[in-house]
Amino acid sequence: MTSAQIRQSFLDFFREKQHSIVPSSSLLPDAPNLLFTNAGMNQFVPIFLGQQKPTWNPPRVADTQKCIRAGGKHNDLEDVGLDTYHHTFFEMLGNWSFGDYFKKEAIEWAWELVVERWKFPAQRLYATVYKPGPAEPSEFDREAHDHWARLFQDADLDPRIHVLTAGKADNFWMMGDTGPCGPCSELHVDLTPDGDTRGALVNKNDPRCFEIWNLVFIQFNANADATFTALPQRHVDTGMGFERVTAIIQGTKNLTDFSGTISNYETDIFRPIFDEIEKLSGKKYASTLPIVGQAPRLPGKEQGTRSGRPTTDPDQEKIDIAFRVIADHIRALSFAIADGIIPSNEGRGYVLRRILRRAVRYGRALEFHEPFFFKLVDVVAKTMGDVFPEVRAKQKTIQETIRREEEAFNKTLDKGIEVFSHYVTFVSEPTGQGAEPGSVGSRQLSGTAAFTLYDTYGFPLDLTELMARERGLTVDVAGFEKLMEEQRDRGRKAQKKSAIAVLDQYDTPTKFVGYDHVESAATLLGVLADSSRRQFAVFDISPFYAEMGGQVGDQGQARLEGRTLRIKNTFKRGNTFLHELDVPDVPTFTDFGGEAASLKLDIPRRRAIERHHTVTHLLHWALHEVVSRDAVQKGSYVGPSIFRARP
Ligand code: SER
Repeated sequence: MTSAQIRQSFLDFFREKQHSIVPSSSLLPDAPNLLFTNAGMNQFVPIFLGQQKPTWNPPRVADTQKCIRAGGKHNDLEDVGLDTYHHTFFEMLGNWSFGDYFKKEAIEWAWELVVERWKFPAQRLYATVYKPGPAEPSEFDREAHDHWARLFQDADLDPRIHVLTAGKADNFWMMGDTGPCGPCSELHVDLTPDGDTRGALVNKNDPRCFEIWNLVFIQFNANADATFTALPQRHVDTGMGFERVTAIIQGTKNLTDFSGTISNYETDIFRPIFDEIEKLSGKKYASTLPIVGQAPRLPGKEQGTRSGRPTTDPDQEKIDIAFRVIADHIRALSFAIADGIIPSNEGRGYVLRRILRRAVRYGRALEFHEPFFFKLVDVVAKTMGDVFPEVRAKQKTIQETIRREEEAFNKTLDKGIEVFSHYVTFVSEPTGQGAEPGSVGSRQLSGTAAFTLYDTYGFPLDLTELMARERGLTVDVAGFEKLMEEQRDRGRKAQKKSAIAVLDQYDTPTKFVGYDHVESAATLLGVLADSSRRQFAVFDISPFYAEMGGQVGDQGQARLEGRTLRIKNTFKRGNTFLHELDVPDVPTFTDFGGEAASLKLDIPRRRAIERHHTVTHLLHWALHEVVSRDAVQKGSYVGPSIFRARP
């Protein structure tokens, strides 16, 4: 089967079981506690929580969902490229029941699809069910256990071997720290040539045996205080790794021959991207894999095979890792940007930037020194555009965004790599002593080094950590964080300095009435002077808007003791409004306090500011419509005669 046929076969199967086929939701999640959509169930959270009613009759759906797991609770980024079955971006095939069928049907249909329709050999399958460890929620999932046991038994297989149990880490699924969750059952496939490992490799993070399908029985809501509340209804949420299933079906010639390489990358999903990388780089992918840790011994056997070819050629290994990383990351970047997530310096945008920089740096292993990554967008759009038209629709934007990012990072990357190597020579010095600036210990790159690489050369910390790991080093993350904090502090102080240096401890709150009034009676509480001899009146009440969020402060006048004083600006300090008086450079009023005053805004000026404030909302709306729901405008200036913004 081609990958397109596999996807279709999954959806057709569940259509036959009365499921409505729904579109994937965006990678930009609605849930505020998620960086990216990380599971098919994300879009159904309000239904699970009983906040929304399902509109399908019967209430069952199936789909293929775009997911990114590169930050937050589910984060596979570190494994990507080093193995053949973890990705930043992947498709999750899933079926859902909203208060409709439950464990029996979910398990029986999983078996029917995998064993009866697709013909996975049953003796290679292992099901895991939830059995809580000490202090873990809920109870042993006997119901799921018994359904699996019956199916294996009917296939003449011993359930004591094929049905395993595990605790919360493996068999209790949560989307994040909070939200709908429940016990789950996973289906694992033994990919060794003989397929007789008797469960020894299940949950061992071994490429010879991995999970293809997770069946979650949503029963609880995880609360912020780490307690679990039972939901009003019970639901089914399943997720199948589309690339993994494709790898198995294609890598075994439709499940008939398990002697060859089984790798997500050696499928028609990734092959076109590899072809393009080969064309651009002139290098060849050779299916080698680095040995990561020691694979567990199999019962009664010598070491089995791996899903890639062991090699003694470290250069080819590096090339092959680079192929996998680049091919994986271009999909993450393309799909995320198509959904309006833009590389930036914060939040999910920074995760995306980190993924991109990781790919560009791996490009050096293929001797790419000019922007190359953006050139792979075409093949992603070509191969995925039929299923996800948004990648094709946004092809040019994706390409441009990646090209710009690549160009920017290329400016500092080579120099950064050189600086990194310089630091490493310090670490590697046999004396190990006095290893600054490179290290704090003999095998650790110092926080200073990581910080310089970050601050001057744009190396995200995880990239430095990765490069360090390649040399058998660690990074002093705490030292790095300390320097980051110091930098933030300096930033805060610099900002303060340009603000007002009046008495810090003046903390009488001012009642702001400026939304409803343009003038008001008030009592003068005091007048403060700063070191530049500017003077600021503080009143109990004020209609003056204080400078905030890019909007300038109000101007106007104060009638005080028979005099009219011009107020030339308004600032806020804590909850206190400071009205800067337009008076000569002499502290004239600092003895004042308790006098009655009447305050009045410069109304035409305020109205002009308000109009520009409205423009910020219009722009914000337009940015969301045209650029992305994730776009934010920053550094805006809202004044009486001009509005300026930097998206
Ligand atoms: N939510 C579960 C998972 O992501 C099953 O879909 O694994």
